[in-house]
Amino acid sequence: MRVDFNVPVANGAVVDDFRIRKVIPTLQFLKKSGAKTIILSHIGREKTDTLLPVSVKLGEKMKHIFVEDFMSEAGRTVLPALKNGEIALVQNLRKWDGEKNSDKNFAKSLATFGDIYVNEAFAVSHRKDASVFELPKLLPSYFGPLFVEEVENLSSAFKKHHPFLFILGGAKFETKMPLIKKFIGSADMVFVGGALANTFFKEKGCEIGASLCDEVGTTVKPLLKNKKLILPVDVVVEGPSGKVVRSLDAVEVTEKIMDGGPATIKMLEEQIKKAKFVLWNGPLGYYEGGFDGATTAVAVALAKSKVQAVVGGGDTVAAIERIKTNKKNIFVSTGGGAMLDFLSKGTLPAIEAIVKKKK
Ligand code: 3PG
Ligand code: MG
Repeated sequence: MRVDFNVPVANGAVVDDFRIRKVIPTLQFLKKSGAKTIILSHIGREKTDTLLPVSVKLGEKMKHIFVEDFMSEAGRTVLPALKNGEIALVQNLRKWDGEKNSDKNFAKSLATFGDIYVNEAFAVSHRKDASVFELPKLLPSYFGPLFVEEVENLSSAFKKHHPFLFILGGAKFETKMPLIKKFIGSADMVFVGGALANTFFKEKGCEIGASLCDEVGTTVKPLLKNKKLILPVDVVVEGPSGKVVRSLDAVEVTEKIMDGGPATIKMLEEQIKKAKFVLWNGPLGYYEGGFDGATTAVAVALAKSKVQAVVGGGDTVAAIERIKTNKKNIFVSTGGGAMLDFLSKGTLPAIEAIVKKKK
């Protein structure tokens, strides 16, 4: 079973175990059913990145063995010796070049270990890596329950629940722009916040001082005329006068926009009250730097409301986790890049790898 245990690690310990927790029910089910389960995952982008901290964290909830070099002669004896109901986690697949190179032979070696393949790794299914794109072509292949839950919940963004409010923040304009273009049609309101909004402010002729901003110029012009587009109405800046709230016409050359202001938060709370469906990706301020006012306010507003909400992306998920809500109306996606790709294209390479085979 391929999972995505690519979680943040600091000083050798897992910092956020959200992606691990989400797979536990599937592992418990497999164990109870007497399956011999081999868990495949990547972590980080370096060959030296290790899943050992993940094994430690996983060990708090699921008994398993950790197999470092499962491809070696010695390693090759460990996995076939698994007994019914036992679980093995193997080392970072990216330790082998074949994983990132979509190497069919690497996939063939992986296939020799199992009889059935399960993709429970929605969060990496936007990649054509061997274990998600080639391996399913070689074995009877299925999607895991968490994968199905992801697709079902994210697909509600394509259905008609109105008013539909799309809240988009973050900094990467290039990856987010297609989403604005996609949802400005089907959503009723598109709120753009975070560093993304600075590009719009600049295009409108507002002073944004030393704020983070992507140069995309003309592409945002037509969007500015769209009545569905909503931008922050005030901001928190940092500059020589410290942290202050400014209206959009009062930002000074020496200042940096860091967060949405109180009037913006109020406006968002109103919008959330009116909405039936909210899709939210990306923080609305420099969240990791402590400018979390608008982001936290949206998380709280969603948790207080009955609106159906789908939320994804690292910092956005952290904001929801931090307010410790377990409200059923909020679905939190394990996907970052995968969620964005799924939302803009409606499918992912690793989905096609299984679905095409079944046709
Ligand atoms: C993610 O965290 O987005 C996935 O695990 C994919 O990781 P990658 O961006 O390194 O391919
Ligand atoms: Mg990523």
